[in-house]
Amino acid sequence: MKQYKRTLITTALPYANGPVHIGHLAGVYVPADIYARYLRLQGRPVTMVGGSDEHGVPITIKAKKEGVTPQDVVDRYHSIIKDSFKELGISFDIYSRTTSSIHAATASEFFSRLHDKGEFIEQTSTQLYDPEAHMFLADRYVTGECPHCHSPRAYGDQCEACGTSLNATDLIDPKSALSGATPELRQTKHWFLPLDRFQERLSRWILEGHKEWRPNVYGQCKSWLDLGLQPRAVTRDLDWGVPVPLKEAEGKVLYVWFDAPIGYISNTKELYPDSWETWWKDPETRIINFIGKDNIVFHCIVFPAMLMAYGDGFQLPDNVPSNEFLNLEGDKISTSRNWAVWLHEYLREFPGKQDTLRYVLTANAPETKDNDFTWADFQTRNNSELVAILGNFINRATVLTHKYYGGSVPVPGEMLDAEKAVFDEIDEIKKRLTEQLEGFHFRDALREAMNIARAGNKYLQETEPWKVWKTDQSRVATILYTALQICADIAIAFEPFTPFMSDRLSRQLGISQLCWAKLGTRDLVKSGTVIAQPELLFEKIEDHAIAAQLAKLEEAKRQNIINSYEPAAVKESTSFEDFEKTDIRVGTVTACSKVKKSNRLLQLSIDDGMGGRTILSGIAQSYPNPEELVGKQVCFIANFPPRKMMGIESQGMVLSAVDADGRLVVVGPTAPVAPGASVG
Ligand code: 2FM
Ligand code: ZN
Repeated sequence: MKQYKRTLITTALPYANGPVHIGHLAGVYVPADIYARYLRLQGRPVTMVGGSDEHGVPITIKAKKEGVTPQDVVDRYHSIIKDSFKELGISFDIYSRTTSSIHAATASEFFSRLHDKGEFIEQTSTQLYDPEAHMFLADRYVTGECPHCHSPRAYGDQCEACGTSLNATDLIDPKSALSGATPELRQTKHWFLPLDRFQERLSRWILEGHKEWRPNVYGQCKSWLDLGLQPRAVTRDLDWGVPVPLKEAEGKVLYVWFDAPIGYISNTKELYPDSWETWWKDPETRIINFIGKDNIVFHCIVFPAMLMAYGDGFQLPDNVPSNEFLNLEGDKISTSRNWAVWLHEYLREFPGKQDTLRYVLTANAPETKDNDFTWADFQTRNNSELVAILGNFINRATVLTHKYYGGSVPVPGEMLDAEKAVFDEIDEIKKRLTEQLEGFHFRDALREAMNIARAGNKYLQETEPWKVWKTDQSRVATILYTALQICADIAIAFEPFTPFMSDRLSRQLGISQLCWAKLGTRDLVKSGTVIAQPELLFEKIEDHAIAAQLAKLEEAKRQNIINSYEPAAVKESTSFEDFEKTDIRVGTVTACSKVKKSNRLLQLSIDDGMGGRTILSGIAQSYPNPEELVGKQVCFIANFPPRKMMGIESQGMVLSAVDADGRLVVVGPTAPVAPGASVG
């Protein structure tokens, strides 16, 4: 394999229209960070660039909904995203944004050069135009009926009900999401990058030159190439984005997918104003793009074609490790449905547990297929792996060193077979671990790192220093010396995965700098070093913390049902006279209990201002704790004829509303009124 002088790691720029969630982390940022940290431990020059993707239609829609500017939206989310990445230990060398002036200049120059070189074709097409808002409508701005499943709420680019990709002009009865007006078809001119001109070069580069790419990446590229590439528009009619630098293109901006990948270049420029070109144009630089699977075509086909068109020595990525998707509790993660674990909330709710999240997302990384994150698995991996295997081993080694040697690393005696065996095993593990990291197999790599802790536990279990102490103290010195070396190996091997733990552990062991070459060297912690008091590196996660997260998800589900609730159609007209025939009153619930042998019925005693009455109501499923209704005021129909149910006479009907999820909620006045008051 070619040896490169340096590695440039890019990470997909997240849209600044919301915070980042575990799907983003597992797909892109945690694996990229593992790789960057590993290379740094190897002493290999590396730069990791990231930043927020701050253009695009969803941001403008969000701003409009909230009545703020798009800049307000991206300012808010950029800082949430940036801060939460930092807190999770994602070690960007720069995390910038595509609204920076350096990015506007870079993207603009990129377009101009391609334009001047004749790399674009111009095409006029008909597009939907909002005659009230006076603007062309991006596909997302148009809603209407899906021509396939007839959902009334399809977007111009996709129907979320049936998942079909659409063109805005396919929608039945389209409406502008901006003004509600019916859009008109109008002519508009755009600039297209004719990807077909790059078909040959891209095919040679990927299909022949990069057979080592992950099968999901290679496969997607192959199907695109097999279909035959088509010209793609790189401009849009929109007022949010990098303006198209042409006089005749007033009111148009660069398409977000044209400017965003250029953000990698702008951000490198911002970081290294004088030497950025070395990171992009020197063939000795290896470029690695970490992305999610929905970004494959842009990174493997469109952006490389842009770089080819630009020329001037720009290097193409050497690999594009792309993960599949992470689901949450069996369901697709969704920002709009709030079905996600948001990083900034996790950090608040699990303070100091960054490593646990990093560990779980890696152990369960969707590298080869979509995977599922569950809170139960999160708890098990923390309690049974980080606490019970890793933490336990380190704790035993350090506690015993303090117990027998006051914390001073003992001088070892003769190394016997047990020591040789465990050190040899660690050598083997290191080989496999390195191989897995080099090949971007982070899940397997983590398993190997964990094998070091397993080997350590096994070693202590077999050598039993706590028993040997009574008979052979010099043997204990060898055992604990060996165990502490394994602890140091753990500090190195885990640094890419759980950097906070590694940092604490290496400080505890008095190791000033971690480096990969030292992993397995058998004398990392010197005899005589006084190690710090043992501290718990991982704590158990209790059931209540998990229950709270599951309850939060349940609530999100409920809210979602409510948000997507479609009220029933209004009934036929009625008259006031008809309405008046029904005598509706307010009463106060004085007692409420389940009706024996009925799952459905509650028996309510009601103070109706007229001596009281009993009403049976089929709301038992909605009120598992009937007591909560006591003292509440409810509306009831007072003039229904009495009716016997389960041997009890019901004297009326309590009014209730059916919630979006089918729950019955009793209806009453918003302020106390006298029992017996008429409703009308
Ligand atoms: O899919 C996304 O979230 C995009 N914002 C990724 C952009 S990656 C790069 F091109 F900037
Ligand atoms: Zn549909």
